Amino acid sequence: MEFQDVATRGLVLLGCGKMGSAMLAGWLAGGLPAGSVWVLDPNPSDWLKGLGIHLNEELPEAPAIVLIAVKPQMMAEALPRLAPLGNGKTLFVSVAAGTTIAHYERVLGARTPVIRAMPNTPAAIGKGITAICGNANASEPQISLAESLLSAVGQVVRLEGEHQMDVVTAVSGSGPAYVFHLIETLAAAGEAEGLPADLAMQLAKATVAGAGALAEAAPEDPAQLRVNVTSPGGTTAAALKVLMDENTGFPALLKAAVKAAADRGRELGK
Ligand SMILES: NC(=O)c1ccc[n+]([C@@H]2O[C@H](COP(=O)([O-])OP(=O)(O)OC[C@H]3O[C@@H](n4cnc5c(N)ncnc54)[C@H](OP(=O)(O)O)[C@@H]3O)[C@@H](O)[C@H]2O)c1
Repeated sequence: MEFQDVATRGLVLLGCGKMGSAMLAGWLAGGLPAGSVWVLDPNPSDWLKGLGIHLNEELPEAPAIVLIAVKPQMMAEALPRLAPLGNGKTLFVSVAAGTTIAHYERVLGARTPVIRAMPNTPAAIGKGITAICGNANASEPQISLAESLLSAVGQVVRLEGEHQMDVVTAVSGSGPAYVFHLIETLAAAGEAEGLPADLAMQLAKATVAGAGALAEAAPEDPAQLRVNVTSPGGTTAAALKVLMDENTGFPALLKAAVKAAADRGRELGK
């Protein structure tokens, strides 16, 4: 029913790079007609050109939703084009990191319904997690519409308010990069202990992917799953003694890393 409104009134996608394309692929697969989609992008991919969507054409007068997926640096140039759609019934959803709701209200008008969303890169394979929060103009049906559109690329969670966005960015937005570095360093450590590089990398990737999938699927929490594979005096216990050190292990490192990212987010948001 929600999608029906989008199919009738139209959906506009501003910027269709990696994130925009991942979402669009999900919506089309979920049954949104290509004829209901308008995309604005200066350098459309061949994939985009072949979809039968409205590409860089004149926009409908009051689309149900405008999804903003340009880089924050391009915002100043791209957003003013959409100002005529502000202050009305069109819902604006932005996945751009760092750009605040107040900024959209300034450019589009104070009565514009706006939802700010923070996805992460596993969205590219439908396994992202996106946190959302809306301004006071965004109605409950609009928030739940944003929720169902964004669930095309993974899980969606609602925040209590925009003040949580910088920390969310530091945990799940930037988080995939931390995990990629964990894979790199786990593989390098295996190599240092004598494994061939390819084998060490295959082991590290599959271990992180498998442990992540198990952590999500299992009824036990991650702490219990850890205890389950740690026999007293065994090999895992020896490694965890290093990793769980309060001052030099994961607790201190991740606390400092997440704080650095959240601080940087607050700085950029100013
Ligand atoms: N990728 C992620 O995992 C992720 C996670 C969280 C948030 N985000 C946010 O999502 C947004 C998009 O990221 P992305 O990785 O998809 O970037 P991207 O691949 O660079 O996509 C941005 C797209 O917007 C186009 N564009 C540039 N200027 C434009 C304009 N004036 N009007 C319309 N379109 C324009 C770009 O075209 P050109 O290539 O020709 O410049 C490009 O196709 C960013 O704001 C980012 O902060 C991304």
